[in-house]
Amino acid sequence: MKISVFGTGYVGLVQGAVLADAGHLVVCVDINERKLEELRNGFIPIYEPGLESIVRNAVGQGLLSFTSNASEAINGSEVIFIAVGTPPDEDGSADLSHVLSVAQTIGSYISAYAVIVDKSTVPVGTADQVSETINNSLKTRGVAIEFDVVANPEFLKEGDAVMDCQRPARIILGTNSTRAESLMRELYEPFNRNHDKIIVMTPRSAELTKYAANCMLATRISLMNEIAIAADALGADIDSVRQGIGSDPRIGTHFLYAGTGYGGSCFPKDVSAMINTSQKHGIQPYILEAVEARNRAQKRVLFDKVMKYFDNNIKDKTFALWGLSFKPNTDDMRDAPSRVLMELLWQGGAKIRAFDPAAMKVAGEIYAGHQGFKLCDSSESALSGADALIVMTEWKQFKTPDFNLIKRILNYPVIFDGRNIYNPEKVKSIGINYFGIGRQSIFIS
Ligand SMILES: NC(=O)c1ccc[n+]([C@@H]2O[C@H](COP(=O)([O-])OP(=O)(O)OC[C@H]3O[C@@H](n4cnc5c(N)ncnc54)[C@H](O)[C@@H]3O)[C@@H](O)[C@H]2O)c1
Repeated sequence: MKISVFGTGYVGLVQGAVLADAGHLVVCVDINERKLEELRNGFIPIYEPGLESIVRNAVGQGLLSFTSNASEAINGSEVIFIAVGTPPDEDGSADLSHVLSVAQTIGSYISAYAVIVDKSTVPVGTADQVSETINNSLKTRGVAIEFDVVANPEFLKEGDAVMDCQRPARIILGTNSTRAESLMRELYEPFNRNHDKIIVMTPRSAELTKYAANCMLATRISLMNEIAIAADALGADIDSVRQGIGSDPRIGTHFLYAGTGYGGSCFPKDVSAMINTSQKHGIQPYILEAVEARNRAQKRVLFDKVMKYFDNNIKDKTFALWGLSFKPNTDDMRDAPSRVLMELLWQGGAKIRAFDPAAMKVAGEIYAGHQGFKLCDSSESALSGADALIVMTEWKQFKTPDFNLIKRILNYPVIFDGRNIYNPEKVKSIGINYFGIGRQSIFIS
């Protein structure tokens, strides 16, 4: 099948590459010329395990190409994906301008029946808006061309994106058209062999399903974070609590880890977009407002522990920071808890020596020229001259450090573990003070 994908970000690039890898002929379209140039030169602009090799193979086989020429890409495409960003507007609603701009472009160039697929996370009713926008463009052209819009939300996780696209847990198709449904079934056939993962519903239900999924996951995280605060205050251990409740099959083990709050490009914006949608429809989003409030507060929790340890004075202190990305296996720093922490540390007059296995380039661009920010070559070199260590991302590389070395290098023997990756007793046995989230602090000296 000939396919075009608008937007070569975390979703569009991975989806395009995976479809090409399965034998479809895919053209990825973007307006960012620099990104396209990098991709044409074989450079992958994002960090995503396994992506580089499938992009390279697909390009080598002539199944995947990159362009800014929308008309060329649309011409002959049976399926056209919209995978552009839907960032939050000032009021928290999803900004649909990129999606609708692509819809208008599609309406300007489409020449035969095609299925337009909304992959972006979009508010309920967007499929109708996309249809209307395309129809308006067709009217302006004075042509009548049939098309269908399918809401097909994406559930990939950054860090596992390739695998999630190749082996999706479910494929949601929001459509009322049997013609579109059968074309989409054909498109996804290579990923739907083992058992039928396709769930067909109306476009509105499909759009709401995506928000419901992210709101549910964000709620689990915020609830566990709140219980971790209680564990801190009550002398309980959140890890034991997690194991205790995770063993209940009605609850399950996923998304029960307390930490420094959720971040990334999806949960924060999708929760706030759902709040906005609810309010517009006269619904009071009691739960989601609380989820958001807990997350805001949670991003300060580790900082408050740092301040307490240093008697509310961190002026001219230097912190080694391990982990900048909002989670491991990605370079994405959008809404990352590390950013909130760093701002707070800087406000207190501190300096930061940071290391992240993947997000160094992204961080360098965000904080270019910042006096209090130094990117270091390794986790060890970040410790050099530092007063304390703060861990913000649970990268595998950080999980088994040389604690003796940490103790030797740091000016104060203290670790603030924002992801609860260390065994407090082990850290204590080396003579290091330890502060986690929802765990008993260890204060030796
Ligand atoms: N990142 C994730 O983990 C994830 C997961 C599921 C769903 N989503 C959703 O998918 C959508 C895309 O997210 P992302 O993280 O890939 O975004 P992104 O910001 O990484 O990429 C978006 C791309 O779209 C391009 N673009 C913008 N306007 C365009 C236009 N008119 N024509 C062509 N390209 C254009 C941008 O240049 C950019 O390269 C969002 O709605 C997001 O909520 C993201």
